[in-house]
Amino acid sequence: MEDFVTKKTTTPHVVIFPLPIQGPVNCMLKLAHLILSLSRATVSVTFLTTTSIHNRLVRHSNAAARLVHSYPNFRFETVSDGLVEHDDGDAQGALKLVESTIALERQAQEEGSKLRAVLGHGSAEPELMTPVTCVLADGFYGCMVDVAKELRVPLVYIETISPCGLWTYLCVPNMVRARDLPFQDDEEGLDASITSVPGMETYLRRRDLPSFCHAYDPNNPVIQLVLKEAQEFPKAQGHILNTFDELEGDYFAHIRALCPNLYNIGPLHLNLKSRIQQETTKSISNSLWQEDRSCLAWLDAQPPKSVLFVSIGSLASMTKDQLMEIWHGLINSKSRFLWVRRPGSIINKDEDTSQDDLEMIPDDLVEGTKKRGCIVSWAPQEEVLAHGAIGGFLTHCGWNSTLESIVEGVPMICWPFYVDQQVNSRVVSEVWKIGLDMNKDNCTRVVVEELIKELMETRRDEFSKRADKMAKLAAQAVAEDGSSYNSLNHLIDDIVSMRFSI
Ligand code: UDX
Repeated sequence: MEDFVTKKTTTPHVVIFPLPIQGPVNCMLKLAHLILSLSRATVSVTFLTTTSIHNRLVRHSNAAARLVHSYPNFRFETVSDGLVEHDDGDAQGALKLVESTIALERQAQEEGSKLRAVLGHGSAEPELMTPVTCVLADGFYGCMVDVAKELRVPLVYIETISPCGLWTYLCVPNMVRARDLPFQDDEEGLDASITSVPGMETYLRRRDLPSFCHAYDPNNPVIQLVLKEAQEFPKAQGHILNTFDELEGDYFAHIRALCPNLYNIGPLHLNLKSRIQQETTKSISNSLWQEDRSCLAWLDAQPPKSVLFVSIGSLASMTKDQLMEIWHGLINSKSRFLWVRRPGSIINKDEDTSQDDLEMIPDDLVEGTKKRGCIVSWAPQEEVLAHGAIGGFLTHCGWNSTLESIVEGVPMICWPFYVDQQVNSRVVSEVWKIGLDMNKDNCTRVVVEELIKELMETRRDEFSKRADKMAKLAAQAVAEDGSSYNSLNHLIDDIVSMRFSI
């Protein structure tokens, strides 16, 4: 306890430690900005990430440079995850993420490593060392509970996945005990209900569980990370969730029962926009790829609510066959579309296939795309979703994309790939009823065409009405005295006054 008392006499200093991928890096840079601004720069922030993520931020985004420029008490610290540098065309994103997480965890536990020095002192350079008064780490780094304890630093986890996804992760041991897991991963059985995830009994099916639950193997490295997360969750001093009270359902009380100190400060990007002067946040990008802003001019020329935005986020990839099914479905639906095809996101079996290699595209696809489509490699997504021409979002249901769509009142077609995306898509379609679920593996051109017509034409008003209502709730949550507004103040107060006890 002595060390901690000493730290109470120092100035507040947080180390923010995201997973090395777009969604979490994006969220946590926004959180860093909010902490610096709302604490009136009385809190020092060290942003700890991998060298390759930092290089990509420097190359493609302006947020990193702006924070460094505007706040003398903000710094980056970088470590290598020891893997081959990830580049912009990385196709095996999810696999690399797991390897990277394991490598970073190993370093965090290693006496004398640079990463451990940054977690305890903000730097490995003696002249830059200042005591860290709180570590804010991604909830997926299960080892951080022990590491922070050894370093005698309070730990608050930032949960960058959805709370509904998080709850299914936390319930994995319960599902095994109740024999809901493992199950035979055959089509007929996938509609069976899962009853051992309290609060979700009425709608959760096997097919809605995270991908690692299918073909469940306790020795799978992802399952091991998830089991560790479930075990360590209650031991952190608190959890920051990118959600707002009004969005959350029955299961949320169960999360709170495990750890009462929760900060629901989402939607984080909306909180940032509403709390920090518009001028400072305008056109700020945290992108790890170069944004192609020409799509905004293309959108300007389209009628209101006529365009379907299509994107599968920063990690997921589709096969060439899936690409052709989506493409035919889009063209046959006759809808206008803006499609993000991230470099490396199209694979052919195990081989990485660049978009340019796609041989022989049928004429009707080429012509239909020229008439009604726009394809870019990376878009300014928040601005795209806020554009009046957007009427729907075909999304992988990553949590940031889902929230960004909710904030703009844009209904969704959900095509989930892995982790929390399956359960997010179920909640979007079945609980909030602001979108349609592609039934996971059923991405055929006929299904795609039908869903687009349903969302953009036949049931458009019904979905828009519900989505608008939810967007209003999000806006109220971040407005003065709203639930997320107050929760963010509470978090900043706790950081400034170093109120976390270990
Ligand atoms: C990962 C997981 O896949 C997801 O399930 C989990 O909830 C968070 O981490 P990711 O693939 O990065 O997510 O998707 P998402 O969470 O949606 O984040 C993607 C981010 O990239 C969004 O903030 C989105 O605005 C941004 N983006 C995406 C762009 O800025 N431009 C694009 O063209 C596409």
